[in-house]
Amino acid sequence: MNPLDAFRLDGRVAIIPGGGGAIGSAIAAALAAAGAQVAVVGRSRERLEEAAAPIRAQGATCLTIAADVTAADESDRMVAAVLDQLGRVDIVVNAVGGGAGKVLFDAEAYPAEAWDWIYELNVRSTLLPTQAAVKAMIAGGRGGRVLNISSVRAALGINAGYSAYVAAKGAISSLTRQWATEWAKHGITVNAISPTFVDTPQVAMLLGDPEFKANIVKRIPLGRVGGTDDLTGAAIFFCSDASSFVTGQILGIDGGLTATQ
Ligand SMILES: NC(=O)c1ccc[n+]([C@@H]2O[C@H](COP(=O)([O-])OP(=O)(O)OC[C@H]3O[C@@H](n4cnc5c(N)ncnc54)[C@H](O)[C@@H]3O)[C@@H](O)[C@H]2O)c1
Repeated sequence: MNPLDAFRLDGRVAIIPGGGGAIGSAIAAALAAAGAQVAVVGRSRERLEEAAAPIRAQGATCLTIAADVTAADESDRMVAAVLDQLGRVDIVVNAVGGGAGKVLFDAEAYPAEAWDWIYELNVRSTLLPTQAAVKAMIAGGRGGRVLNISSVRAALGINAGYSAYVAAKGAISSLTRQWATEWAKHGITVNAISPTFVDTPQVAMLLGDPEFKANIVKRIPLGRVGGTDDLTGAAIFFCSDASSFVTGQILGIDGGLTATQ
């Protein structure tokens, strides 16, 4: 067997909540290029269609499903639509999240409303679609793959008002290990990627400040921030048979940042 065949996803069906976003759309396109049929999910139909167009142009199947994955019934509806149209669920990649730079407060005065918003955007948005997808994977009896997106901030404090985000990403990393432990008996692996800054619209304003960017880049041994293409190889690995014996792992994609701490 050609060892590269283990990275192929032909016949697999992947759901990507947040698939209309910067990282989610890049991962959706990569999984489709590896052979998967994909469903991109988000609240904005327009952004989903933008993400789907280049995937369909390659000849791959890409469903677009408008849903708010912080609602359990909408997450269930998302999975039902995928089962109805594509017949199975093999992979879920949780690419909804962020908000880090939008709500920065001193830790001793961090407002509960901002805390709840960050948790909803990052943790609840990972929990509910995963529960819905994993129920379908268990029922399908073929195992499956869950890929979460954590952040270097799950492991590193930062003196800049990030309490809720670091806690939420810490929760994502902990859930990755917990779910890996619980769902191994069903042949479902659960892993996470943990990027540092990725050049995306969410962080464009921060990276647009040359002094801020220079400070960030100075601390990254490989001397640059990430791009969405830096994440796609790892995503294919974690979603394919190539990672069959890998579960509960958090892979830093950070140019060496965490290695220096
Ligand atoms: N960009 C970075 O530098 C960076 C670094 C580390 C980790 N991350 C993480 O990567 C993930 C993706 O980030 P991104 O930069 O692609 O963000 P993004 O904002 O481009 O994409 C997120 C997508 O999720 C959608 N979404 C938000 N709430 C939703 C909901 N309730 N239901 C359905 N869809 C919803 C948004 O509309 C958006 O399309 C996040 O978890 C973020 O924390 C990003």
